[in-house]
Amino acid sequence: MKKIIPVSEVANLKRPKYFPLKKGKIEIVPVQLEELDPILDKYFKVVFPSMASTSPAKLSKKQKANRESLFAEYRKLHWECFFFKYEGKIVGWFMGEMDDNKTFYMRNTGILPKFQGKKIYSLFFPRFLEYLEEIGYERVSSHHSPNNGQIFHLKLKYGFMIVGSETHEVYGQLIKMIKIFDKKQNEAFIKRYC
Ligand SMILES: CC(C)(COP(=O)(O)OP(=O)(O)OC[C@H]1O[C@@H](n2cnc3c(N)ncnc32)[C@H](O)[C@@H]1OP(=O)(O)O)[C@@H](O)C(=O)NCCC(=O)NCCS
Repeated sequence: MKKIIPVSEVANLKRPKYFPLKKGKIEIVPVQLEELDPILDKYFKVVFPSMASTSPAKLSKKQKANRESLFAEYRKLHWECFFFKYEGKIVGWFMGEMDDNKTFYMRNTGILPKFQGKKIYSLFFPRFLEYLEEIGYERVSSHHSPNNGQIFHLKLKYGFMIVGSETHEVYGQLIKMIKIFDKKQNEAFIKRYC
């Protein structure tokens, strides 16, 4: 019988061809999901100060236990996590996971304000898209605040399209973007819907 390799294993085999990635003072390093926790605890509010104000109140013990249980299941998906380093210091992160059987979801990226605009994301992003396509994904999705002009500029530049919006109870208004790797499918989409 033909052996089917799950995408997480394909990713582990292919990732070393793309990452770690180093250019000048910038380094993009793959990490495990749990390695992000202390960095997110320390820096999330620094990068996303407005989000702190809409976060829910402190969780009860029961809510906390439920979340841990749900996350224990969710983390079994294919995840990709990276640290962005500048002169050896961690100055940002990326995290994302499988969204469905064709789509990778770019969940969150953050770079400390002092290190934004240094082309860290410009180094990471095109390489990451190449990698996702090679390991088999057909689409990439993401959500962004409508006021985040910089990220729209970047995503549109690399062929993402705006396909919808939602209002989230924590993150507020979000614009959905996708990129379709297959050229013909992308053209068909544009012809039909844009
Ligand atoms: C958005 C973000 C990930 C981009 O990473 P970055 O390393 O700062 O971006 P780069 O230095 O590679 O710059 C990319 C482009 O944005 C432009 N840019 C940089 N700083 C900018 C600013 N303050 N305002 C507008 N455009 C800006 C650059 O000119 C560049 O454009 P170009 O490619 O046409 O030259 C980063 O700035 C960040 O973490 N921002 C806060 C959190 C956030 O918005 N996360 C994304 C949503 S999850």
